[in-house]
Amino acid sequence: MTILPILQKPLTMKTILFSLFLGISLVSFGQDPYLKDQYKFPIGASMNPRLLAENEAYRKLASSEFNSVTPENHMKIMLVHPEANRFDFSKGDEIVAFAKGQQKRVHGHTLVWHNQVPKWMNEFSGDAQAWENMLKNHVQTVAKHYKGQVAGWDVVNEAFLDDGSLRPSIWAKYIPDYIAKSFQWAHEADPEAILFYNDYGQDGKPKKMQAILTLVQDLQARHIPIHGLGLQMHINIDSKNDEILSVINQSKSTGLAIHFSELDIAVNPKNDSTFVLHEAAKEAQKQKFQLIFKAYASIPKSQQYGITFWNVSDKDSWLRGYFKRPKEYPLLFDDSYNRKPAYSQLLKNEK
Ligand code: XIL
Repeated sequence: MTILPILQKPLTMKTILFSLFLGISLVSFGQDPYLKDQYKFPIGASMNPRLLAENEAYRKLASSEFNSVTPENHMKIMLVHPEANRFDFSKGDEIVAFAKGQQKRVHGHTLVWHNQVPKWMNEFSGDAQAWENMLKNHVQTVAKHYKGQVAGWDVVNEAFLDDGSLRPSIWAKYIPDYIAKSFQWAHEADPEAILFYNDYGQDGKPKKMQAILTLVQDLQARHIPIHGLGLQMHINIDSKNDEILSVINQSKSTGLAIHFSELDIAVNPKNDSTFVLHEAAKEAQKQKFQLIFKAYASIPKSQQYGITFWNVSDKDSWLRGYFKRPKEYPLLFDDSYNRKPAYSQLLKNEK
């Protein structure tokens, strides 16, 4: 849109010289293009408001490299709804403000999950109706607060176990049909939002994948608004390519929007404490990033919601922090916030 007025102007000698100068400067300064400008779908990262505020290198990279933002934690139940009668949107709002200031899209994560649930919810007591009212109030208050600010929501996260059965959470235990209800409530609160079911580890777990596909069919048959599937893509260099591709194909065949929602590729999956990042691991990671991006690019445009990395650099990865795996390097930027060679490789792909 912004380049249109330039194109409509007659080409004067001045414009030609200026464009030449710009081209030559970019080449001579060796400035590579950005992935987000090269690919036709959004490239995102999950982000943390403290790092955005306190770490300049992080903020710079977060600003320049991504056009979509997912709050890593600050829209989760425990953080936005710490007490029964109190919501705290301050940190989620910070992320939204950061994104808005730079015309980045925000993806909401996540309305209903079994993890990061506050104590008061875990200890809630009441009959089925009281449970339902409680969750409905949560979903709708959060979705209404961020209405118009987020493009989509992970409405329900990780509802199935590897064997395809419903995960025994407080939601499954106390609220019959909680998945369908949550989608319905979210849609009522924010009818414009693209609503996702999000999960991990479908590759090599056909029963889990089947449970997700069955859920989609069931919701669609009942006219429950579900619009997308989030594949978290917490994978590693040993993840099997054919299994990943088969999950992508099955997801694609639903016709829903597809989001690779939390991409990282572990290079030291067994958490070997003597691990040293070696060439073969770097190469394997590079190939895996290639596979993921190529597979995503082959999804029909109308179904592409984007690829989101789970945080910005290796240093910020949850595998280091949450899983305490100091010898892990799962992202596209290294500990010094530099692009890895895998990045330039991705730039060379046909988009
Ligand atoms: C993780 C965050 O990265 C950690 O900081 C937090 O301590 C735990 O949750 N699947 C999800 C994400 O949907 O919300 C999780 O994020 C990673 C797995």
